[in-house]
Order: sequence, then C-alpha cells, then structure tokens
Amino acid sequence: MAATAVVLAAALGGGLLLLARRFWAAAAKATQSAAAAAGLMEGKTVIITGANSGLGRATAAELLRQHARVIMACRDRVRAEEAARELRAELGLCSRGGGECRGELLVRELDLASLRSVRSFCQQVLQEESRLDVLINNAGIFQCPYMKTEDGFEMQFGVNHLGHFLLTNLLLGLLKNSAPSRIVVVSSKLYKYGEINFDDLNSELNYNKSFAYSRSKLANILFTRELARRLENTGVTVNVLHPGIVRTNLGRHIHIPLLAKPLFNLVSWAFFKSPLEGAQTSIYLASSPEVEGVSGKYFGDCKEEELLPKAMDDLIGRKLWDISEVMVGLLK
Ligand SMILES: NC(=O)c1ccc[n+]([C@@H]2O[C@H](COP(=O)([O-])OP(=O)(O)OC[C@H]3O[C@@H](n4cnc5c(N)ncnc54)[C@H](OP(=O)(O)O)[C@@H]3O)[C@@H](O)[C@H]2O)c1
Ligand SMILES: *[C@@H]1O[C@H](CO)[C@@H](O)[C@H](O)[C@H]1NC(C)=O
Repeated sequence: MAATAVVLAAALGGGLLLLARRFWAAAAKATQSAAAAAGLMEGKTVIITGANSGLGRATAAELLRQHARVIMACRDRVRAEEAARELRAELGLCSRGGGECRGELLVRELDLASLRSVRSFCQQVLQEESRLDVLINNAGIFQCPYMKTEDGFEMQFGVNHLGHFLLTNLLLGLLKNSAPSRIVVVSSKLYKYGEINFDDLNSELNYNKSFAYSRSKLANILFTRELARRLENTGVTVNVLHPGIVRTNLGRHIHIPLLAKPLFNLVSWAFFKSPLEGAQTSIYLASSPEVEGVSGKYFGDCKEEELLPKAMDDLIGRKLWDISEVMVGLLK
C-alpha cells in the first residue's frame, strides 16, 4: 500500500517536473527568438517547401516575425491557404503586405512528386520575383508504402531528393543574382542507415521503406556538399541540418495500434520537440548573421556537427549529382 503510494507520488512528481520543464523551455525559447527577431529579414524573400505543416510552418511563422516575405511552396492549395490564413491571424499580418504590414505571406503550388509541377512553379517564381534570398528545402515524405512519382521515381527519393534537386537548380540563377543568399536543406540523422545504391535508385528490385527514407536523407547531404563546392565564390551558401525528433505530421504513414496511441502521444508530448523547437536550426541557418559565408556544413541544434564518412564521400556525391541531372532531365 505504502509502496504504491510512493510510486504514485514519484510518478506524479516526475510528471509535474517534466511539465514545468517543458513550459519553461518553451517560454525561454519564445522570448529568445522574439528578441532576436526584430526586422532581421526585412526586405528578404524566402521560399519554404512544405510550409503548411510541421517544421515548415513553424519556420515560416518565425521568418514572418522577422519580417520576411515568405512564399509557401505547397502541393495542396487548400491545405496551404488554410495554414496561411491561420498564420496571418496568429501573427496579425494583413493579407496583402505593404503599408503598415510587415512580413508577407504568399502561397504557390509545388508538387515535388511531379517534375512538370516543379518546372511550372519555378517559371512563375522567375516571372514574379525580382529576388530570392533564401530557399529552404524542407518538404519531405517518410516511410510511405511503395509509390512512384509522376515521373516514375520511388516516392521518397523522388520528393525528398530529386524534386528538390530540380527546384534548386532552376532557382540557382535568381539566388546568384540576389547574393549574398542562402540555401537550407532539411535532412535527418537517419541518413546513417542509408546508402546510394546506384543499381536500384527507384527500388524496383527491392523496396525497404526505412532504407529508402534514409537513402533520400543521405542524398540531401551529398547534394548539399557537392552544391557548396559548385557555389564557391558566388555568394550563395548551402547548409544541411537535422532537426531532431519533432512532433509533426511526418509519421502519417506509420501505423500505430489503437491501444498504443495514448502511450505514443504521451511519449511524444514529453520527449519530442515542438515544431517551433525543431525549426530553430532551419531558422538559424536562414537568417542568423553568425552563419554568413558558412557553406557545405551539417548542423544540429544550431551547431555544426560531424558527419559519417559515407556522407562525405565526394566521389559518390559527384556521381549522384550527375545521375540526378539525367533523371530530372537537366542533361539529356
Ligand atoms: N519530424 C521529425 O521528427 C523529423 C526528423 C528528421 C527530419 N525531418 C524532416 O523535416 C522535414 C519536414 O517534415 P515535418 O516533420 O515537418 O513533417 P510534416 O508535418 O509531414 O510536413 C512535411 C511537409 O512536406 C510536404 N510534402 C510532402 N510531399 C510533398 C510533395 N510531393 N510536394 C510538396 N510538398 C510535399 C507536406 O505537404 P502535405 O501537408 O500536403 O502532405 C508537408 O507540408 C522533412 O524533410 C523531414 O524529412 C523531420
Ligand atoms: C531495411 O532497411 C533498414 C535501414 O537501412 C535496415 O535496418 C533493415 O534491416 C532493413 N530491413 C530489411 C527487411 O531488409
């Protein structure tokens, strides 16, 4: 009896402590970023892929607070307009920018699972925008069942790597003309379990959804390093990051048994980062003066981190670049 009471009290105390810690951390973060924010991104245009949800949405909100002009590049117009409406209300933006308004939010359609869509998105951006200061390759799909993109690529490799590969290449001219400018790539620590198996990039021989995700995130890093090399002395920098484990919609393809759901929710609430916490490194790489001129590096929690040798294999990086160029039709 007494033992049960002690265990209960300990659990309760622990729970309360955790609660206090979470609220304290969130409050500290919010004041910190608000103080750093003021006008940092005034006059700058930012494109964020997948900005209607999770990390992308939190990144958009913070860069808007820093007065950026943010273009949400999203595949579903309805979901994107909905998120844009909420963000405008949350931040007190007017729908048109200009005048008293600071920070401006636009929605543009971009489906990274379609090269045609990537091309038409870029065409519109090049027509409408006179500058592009930051491109954030954030959208991603995680461990989906075997699916192919419109162009026949395995979905995770197609969206997470190839779609962004074409997008970045088509916007590179505008980024160079707007230098100093930045590219930010959202990868994941799970890159560690990936491999660039050139003999089966579309997983037609064998599909393992975990491997395919890891492969796409390893591709994000190799792409960043090769691009950084190509962008030397252009004033355009590119860096890659892992956000940690974050409470978002990324797990939509993961099936959790109904009975395990409450436990999962509890664990994720207690131990996963909030989207705003998870977005800190994206925001830092997009706007902090501290990383001016830094390029080709891998970051976590706003600090540079070491990579495994497989992510620094520049020969593989170059070969991946060449093959990607052919796959997306940049080179015939
Ligand atoms: N959450 C984590 O713990 C974690 C950990 C490591 C890395 N990451 C990385 O963080 C990035 C953001 O993910 P998140 O966690 O914020 O997940 P999320 O809430 O699911 O957001 C992903 C975004 O990507 C978009 N997207 C998916 N497929 C797309 C396509 N074909 N074309 C255009 N946009 C597409 C989604 O659009 P819809 O809403 O229309 O589906 C959504 O806006 C991803 O690159 C992910 O790999 C996340
Ligand atoms: C799938 O890939 C993951 C990550 O590379 C690996 O750990 C796992 O063993 C693979 N599963 C199968 C069935 O091969």
